[in-house]
Amino acid sequence: MPFSPDRPFNDLPPLPPARDVETRAVLKACIEARAALAELRISGRLIPNQAVLINSIPLLEAQASSEIENIVTTTDRLFRFANDAGSQADPATKEALRYRTALYRGFEMLDQRPLSTAVAVEVCRTIKGVDLDIRSTPGTALVNDATGAMIYTPPEGQDLLRGKLANWESYIHEAEEIDPLVRLAVMHYQFEAIHPFVDGNGRTGRVLNLLYLVDQGLLDIPVLYLSRHIIQNKALYYRYLLEVTTGEAWEQWVLFMLEAVRSTATWTTARLLAIRDLLEQTAAHIRHDLPKIYSRELAELVFVNPYCRISDLVDSGVAKRQTAAVYLKALVSEGLLREVKAGRENLYINPALLALLSDRGQGKL
Ligand SMILES: Nc1ncnc2c1ncn2[C@@H]1O[C@H](COP(=O)(O)OP(=O)(O)OP(=O)(O)O)[C@@H](O)[C@H]1O
Ligand SMILES: [Mg+2]
Repeated sequence: MPFSPDRPFNDLPPLPPARDVETRAVLKACIEARAALAELRISGRLIPNQAVLINSIPLLEAQASSEIENIVTTTDRLFRFANDAGSQADPATKEALRYRTALYRGFEMLDQRPLSTAVAVEVCRTIKGVDLDIRSTPGTALVNDATGAMIYTPPEGQDLLRGKLANWESYIHEAEEIDPLVRLAVMHYQFEAIHPFVDGNGRTGRVLNLLYLVDQGLLDIPVLYLSRHIIQNKALYYRYLLEVTTGEAWEQWVLFMLEAVRSTATWTTARLLAIRDLLEQTAAHIRHDLPKIYSRELAELVFVNPYCRISDLVDSGVAKRQTAAVYLKALVSEGLLREVKAGRENLYINPALLALLSDRGQGKL
């Protein structure tokens, strides 16, 4: 049966797409995206402490991906509560932090098994914070918020959904003749069209995108701010997804995703290098002006934790409690950190790093 917005699309075609998606334009864009991604991977290896990366870029990704779903938090709140989610964080911040956790967990799972339906279920559970499974009840649909009109009704029936997911899984691992970045775009469309969960499909699909890049060996760790491009082009993202369904418009969709990879890989590389430079400057500053308290670990710690606590120094063995407070206050008097009260605790903020990370507008590359 042809597609109709208000009827479950049980006839969603299996992969591979019926038409050849590797057009000339696609292959050209693919080369550029692959090059940008390779540069990002190499730049990531230049950062001496990988925890600096894994604690920063995934939070930006979590923020943007959650914002696509209108869950809005700020970079400041995210970093502030990054190690303290049980705390007084507001619900949107907690939800975005769960997205970050889901990305980490999925990444860990890749050590044991390839990307699969089981990984998707675990990622969605972590994002939503509930013990859910593939949809078994009808009633899920995408609706236009403003008009209430139906946009898309995904397929129904748990067995049917599992069958489509099995086909999705084979395609992503077995269609080896297709470039992995093209497969990434096809995979993301198909996952969203299957829409296996009652909620959280968009965010789960976007976590899977990053995991797939790792799975395919195109990234070492999931540090790519891919959702930045999607949030900046949200209307096109929605439109192109729909037009694959209604008109098999694969090329514009694949080109959109390739451009997302290219532009965000370039952006992320620039940020990584800026973070590295700032870390080196900060370390040199401490070594020169505060030689008594200098250690490389101390400098790195205020980059791993842009909202640093005394306990972070203690836990990482950089200093004992008394000395830790002295160290942090010395960094404040040097202008490297800013002290704020948070309840009974003091937080020591690395403003230069946060400025680098929160600057969404700048760096349009
Ligand atoms: N026409 C479409 N066909 C298929 N998928 C679509 C279409 N339009 C949008 N989507 C996808 O559906 C997602 C929204 O689905 P869902 O609400 O389940 O995910 P979630 O957004 O992560 O959760 P929430 O909106 O409650 O925060 C979008 O982010 C997008 O990826
Ligand atoms: Mg939703």
